[in-house]
Parts: sequence; C-alpha cells; structure tokens
Amino acid sequence: MEKKKRSVFLVSLVSVLAVFLILTGCSKASGAVAKKEIIRIGHNQSQNHPTHLGMLAFEKLVESKLGDKYDIQIYPSELLGTQTNMVQLTQTGAIEISVASNSILETFDKQYEIFNLPYLFENQEVYRAVMNDSEIVDPIFQSTAKSGFETVAWLDAGVRNFYTVNDPIEEPSDLAGLKIRVQQSPTNVTMMQLFGGSATPMGFGDVYTAIQSGVIDGAENNELALTENGHGDVVKYYSYTEHQMIPDEVIVNNKFLEELSSEDRKVFDEGFEQLEDTQHKSWLVSVKEATDRANNEMNVEFNYPDTEPFRQTVQPLHEKMLKENPSLQPIYDAILQKAKEQAAGGETEK
Ligand code: GCU
Repeated sequence: MEKKKRSVFLVSLVSVLAVFLILTGCSKASGAVAKKEIIRIGHNQSQNHPTHLGMLAFEKLVESKLGDKYDIQIYPSELLGTQTNMVQLTQTGAIEISVASNSILETFDKQYEIFNLPYLFENQEVYRAVMNDSEIVDPIFQSTAKSGFETVAWLDAGVRNFYTVNDPIEEPSDLAGLKIRVQQSPTNVTMMQLFGGSATPMGFGDVYTAIQSGVIDGAENNELALTENGHGDVVKYYSYTEHQMIPDEVIVNNKFLEELSSEDRKVFDEGFEQLEDTQHKSWLVSVKEATDRANNEMNVEFNYPDTEPFRQTVQPLHEKMLKENPSLQPIYDAILQKAKEQAAGGETEK
C-alpha cells in the first residue's frame, strides 16, 4: 500500500476501533453497575455548546428520577463518528440517541427536505414558531419511524451565513468559483451550485483542516462554528447572508422508545422537554458571546450584505423542490401562513 493510503487506512481503522471499544466497553460496564441500562448519546459539538448543556440537563433529570435503572452516557465532539455515522448507529440501535442536523436527515426521509430550503423562514421568530408547532413538525419527525428512529426534540442552530478566507461575500457573484464546504445533503449542494460556488460536502469535523490547508475557500454556518470549532482562527470574514435556518434534531432509536414502559416514557419525555428548553435558552446567550469573541478576540470581520439578491438567486430551488416532492406543499403553505400571522401580530425579531 502507498504511504498516504496506508495512513488513511490506519486512521479509519483506529476510528472504527475506538467506536467499537466505546460501544462494547459500555456493555461490559453494564455488568459492573448492576442491571443499569446504558443510554448512549452521541453528538458533534463541544462541551461548551448549548447542545451539550441541554444533554447534561436531560441526563440530570432522567437520572434524578430513574437513576437506579438508567445510566446516561454522553459522547460529544464526534467521538462516535460523524453525524451520518451516528444516525446509522441510532438506526440500528447500537446507540440510543444522537443529534443530527436536519440537513442530513433528508437522505433518510424526503419530508425533512423542507427545512433545508434557503430563505424558507422570514425571520427567526417565524422559524421558532414553526418548529414549536407540533401540527407542522410531528408528521415530519415521525416519518423516519419506519427507518428505525424518530425525532423527539428540535434544537436551535441559529442562522447560517458564509465565512471566507480572502474576501467578504457582498453579493452572490462573490461566491463564483469559490470552493465552499456544505453539509452532506443534496439540497445544500444544489443551493451552492445556484450561488455559483463549488459545493464541497464534508463532515463538520473536517472543516477546520480543510480551510487551514486551502482545500476550501470557506464554509457556511452559525457564529458558534467560529468560536467553538475554531473556524474564526482560519477565516477572516463572516457575511450575514442569512440564507438558512436549519434546526438540529434529537433522534432516538424507535425500538428503544417503544419498549419503554409508559411511566419511564413519561420521564424521558420530560427529559426531552428539559433538553429543548435548556438548549434554546443557552443558544441565545451563546450566539451573542460567540459573536463578541470572534469579533474582538479572533479579529473576524462581520459584514451585512443586502440579502435580497441572494434570496432571488436561490428562489428556483423552492419551485424545484415542491414540484419534485408535492407532498411538501401543505407544509410549505403552513409555513407561509405562519409568517403572515406573525407579521399581522406585530414586531418580529431579526
Ligand atoms: C451546525 C449544526 C450541526 C451541524 C453543523 C454542520 O453546527 O448545529 O448539527 O453538524 O452545523 O455544518 O455540519
């Protein structure tokens, strides 16, 4: 084997072994902590991130009520692999719970596509109102039950904007020819193509090195990627194109959920609510802190382009998606209706 291939092979082997050891190691531990069932949770964020804080709140609540039966174990920072790996582990029941960006879930069920549309939500108030409306989200969240998992809570992941190494993005043509990392989702690849850039899909954990080594010219994400993932050290500009608001979904293995007794299920549901609540509250504080830190300590320059030309550039994606997947039309209409209600109801947050 050539040297490069051999080292890639070794890195993959070590990662697979690490996951194997965590999973099998935990099963052994179950013998040691007499009869407790281990609940494994995987996510790809740091331990300061609102998602991790939400998970700690979930752990605390469930263990305070059912600590004699369950041992909740949280694996942050892609310890169990990329989000796609973790969705597969959740599907098969190798782990019970994980967090997946809505983006990647569209490859598991097409219903999830809707929230990946750029410029779907008028503003964050509409986004939150839609995500909190169970009539809209529940059919989507349960659509993957047949594939082995379902969504039990949504987590805030803010607004996605472009960030780049060499020049700020002031108008859509500034993206022409740039290699921009996108999430591993067909909608995001098409969106980037419409913007005229070269879409480079990869897992979140590979983005820092890809920017640093010049493999890509930038990426797009919320402000926490600059600080929590250090991307602010390797880019110079953060441009508020506000092109997407994509929630993260907490997904749970279906069989595990179904086998819970109704009393235990009640406690887990309470835990999921606590998780959502803690994550949402902490999100608002964290975004502000991340923006200040990136600006003042990491010297990232923030700029605010007119978003209208960006919106118009990717608008064809709305028609394309609705044409190819007509079952999304009622959900799309309900979201537009929600925007109207919010507008009629008074002030909106931006
Ligand atoms: C956000 C989101 C993650 C996602 C990441 C990405 O950080 O919260 O769930 O993995 O973006 O761009 O991959």
